[in-house]
Amino acid sequence: MAIVTATACGKIILFGEHAVVYGRPAIAAPLTLLRAQAVVQASTVAGVCLLAPDLGVHTTLDAADADDPLAAVLRHFAQAAKLAQWPDLTVTVHSDIPVASGLGSGAAITTAMLRALAAYFALPHLANPPQLSALTYEVEKLYHGTPSGIDNTVIAYEQPVYFMRQQPQNQIEPFRPAVPIDLLVADTGIRSSTKVVVEDVRRRWQADPIRFEQIFTACGDIVAAARQAIEQGNLAELGQLMTYNHEWLQEMSVSGPELDVLVQAALEAGALGAKLSGAGRGGNMIALVTRETAVAVQMALQQAGAHRVLLTRIEP
Ligand code: PMV
Repeated sequence: MAIVTATACGKIILFGEHAVVYGRPAIAAPLTLLRAQAVVQASTVAGVCLLAPDLGVHTTLDAADADDPLAAVLRHFAQAAKLAQWPDLTVTVHSDIPVASGLGSGAAITTAMLRALAAYFALPHLANPPQLSALTYEVEKLYHGTPSGIDNTVIAYEQPVYFMRQQPQNQIEPFRPAVPIDLLVADTGIRSSTKVVVEDVRRRWQADPIRFEQIFTACGDIVAAARQAIEQGNLAELGQLMTYNHEWLQEMSVSGPELDVLVQAALEAGALGAKLSGAGRGGNMIALVTRETAVAVQMALQQAGAHRVLLTRIEP
């Protein structure tokens, strides 16, 4: 095939980030407005050329470092596809999803590349969600160190999911809420490395395991209550739980002044709840709104310094 294009969505974590790395449940949803795109095309130049103009990447598979995540996608794909030798190809990646901002940009780029490669080589079984998610997880380890697996899961399935990391298989339950869930996603504009924040939480957990286990358990309990609120369509309760979750994330030390300012601004403008989303220390926050409050909360977030505010809906 001469040319193939594929995309993958971003994601937001509604509840349970960080605690999910320690085996507690979490809830995440696709952010379909922001996407990564990969184009695979036959080339007249020898070898495999890797281009990501937004990231300033212009390299070849042979020249890329061993831990280069884009090259790692190709290597994992070759292994799964039992590809003895690469044909001459160009793989180009674009993404609307800001990097290091808690929206799953790394996993989205990987998933888009794997989808495009699976289509190019006519190997549809490599593009089914469990297989895509498993391959994306391998690459996520390069970005994250010890990823829980929630990002690759929600992005590969492109559905809202209840997720729990466990052996031998993660618990993955796609769901639809009882009523629409409208969320504003606001960017602090601060980039923050998930790997660094996750490692810092690990150090703090090692230094004070009893306290951190209590915090993680409290987050897990919030997720269980949130699941009930989602199933019952109880948005007031859901919002309250988001704000509680944010307070536990503050206790973990993963919030920051800019995130706290946005959370406060959203609540004061009438959001039902608000919290940081993703690894924290920058990146994005989410606010639960209704049709009546969406505009006021959006304006409040912009006035409080948000760089970009998006409205997304989880459909019943
Ligand atoms: O990649 P981010 O920033 O959306 O964060 C992922 C969520 C964490 O729980 C912090 C890490 C993980 O692997 O689940």
